[in-house]
Amino acid sequence: MGKIRLGLIGCGGRAKAHMKSWVKMENVAVVAVADPIEERRVAAAQMFGCTNIYANHTELYDNCAKELDAVIICVEPTAHADIELRAIELGIPFLVEKPMTLDLDFADRIAAGVKEKNLITCVGFQDRYQDLTDIIKEEMPKHKPGGLVWGSWVGGIPGVWWWQKKDDCGGQLVEQNIHLLDELRYLFGEPLSVYATASRGIVKAGEGASAEYDTDDHSTAVFRFPNNVTATLVSGCYIKPQQNARRPRCGLYITLEDIIFDYRLRNNLIIETPAETRDIPRKADQTETLDVAFIKALETGDRSLIRSDYEDALKSLKICFAANKSMETGEVIYFD
Ligand SMILES: NC(=O)c1ccc[n+]([C@@H]2O[C@H](COP(=O)([O-])OP(=O)(O)OC[C@H]3O[C@@H](n4cnc5c(N)ncnc54)[C@H](O)[C@@H]3O)[C@@H](O)[C@H]2O)c1
Repeated sequence: MGKIRLGLIGCGGRAKAHMKSWVKMENVAVVAVADPIEERRVAAAQMFGCTNIYANHTELYDNCAKELDAVIICVEPTAHADIELRAIELGIPFLVEKPMTLDLDFADRIAAGVKEKNLITCVGFQDRYQDLTDIIKEEMPKHKPGGLVWGSWVGGIPGVWWWQKKDDCGGQLVEQNIHLLDELRYLFGEPLSVYATASRGIVKAGEGASAEYDTDDHSTAVFRFPNNVTATLVSGCYIKPQQNARRPRCGLYITLEDIIFDYRLRNNLIIETPAETRDIPRKADQTETLDVAFIKALETGDRSLIRSDYEDALKSLKICFAANKSMETGEVIYFD
């Protein structure tokens, strides 16, 4: 089989992480790139010696669709336009970054189209592919279920322009802490309910943020899961950059009756039992593992390698939007 030929739509921050994978993989060729920002698309093209360089996804599809085995979609949450719809129409599998959109009706249309065309899809929930996650997933069922989970993702304001308004990023739970919500679903199954609160006022619009800044400073979401598991996810983006040296710890702290999993985000996992304490470092880069899984799935047709496809990822997205609704209404949202 020849190389898997990829088209890259969006060449910003997240695309760079995927590009590091593709450049190492001998069975992958990036044959087309697109980004409205010239400097970004040119830099991406140079990395792969690619000559098909476009200002947007429409030009890329119009000129190169036949040459592509898949597209990689790394655009900002409100920029998805018809990127996935055209991939579906053209029968092109895709890897798309979370959150796949901020429009749930649009996401339902994509999910239906993917199903109809039976397309391979993959969403960038990188934590699912981590060696540390594999360890928790294997070890946890050996212990009595039930307990409390504390999850946190607290830091400063991310540098992308689209973080400044909640309507552009979806809020921190939808845009960022969706990773830990998705990890909770991967470990504990589907949540039964969510209650969430949010707060603003620490970051002031126009002071270290844009004049329109209205993203919440922090939020707290309490998720009930089956088997007496309750998880509290806190999200915060108000810590000043100079304080990052003592940045609060991000990750999950899972406490069962006879074991604790202290998952320190994408770095290490401390497992404590009455008999021992083990501190396990992360061995592999989980984005690379995800990328390898997607390429292997394309090569072999084996979809079981993909741990989060569009349909499954949409469940995480809907749950985070339900939490947003709870923040707005003060009500508990129950899932069917
Ligand atoms: N999985 C992860 O861990 C992870 C990490 C970071 C970001 N992300 C997600 O990846 C997505 C992109 O984030 P980012 O940090 O790279 O943002 P970014 O703003 O750095 O890059 C997005 C790029 O998409 C380009 N773009 C917009 N519309 C386009 C179009 N029609 N055709 C081609 N290019 C287009 C923009 O010009 C920009 O360069 C977001 O949804 C974000 O949440 C995921």
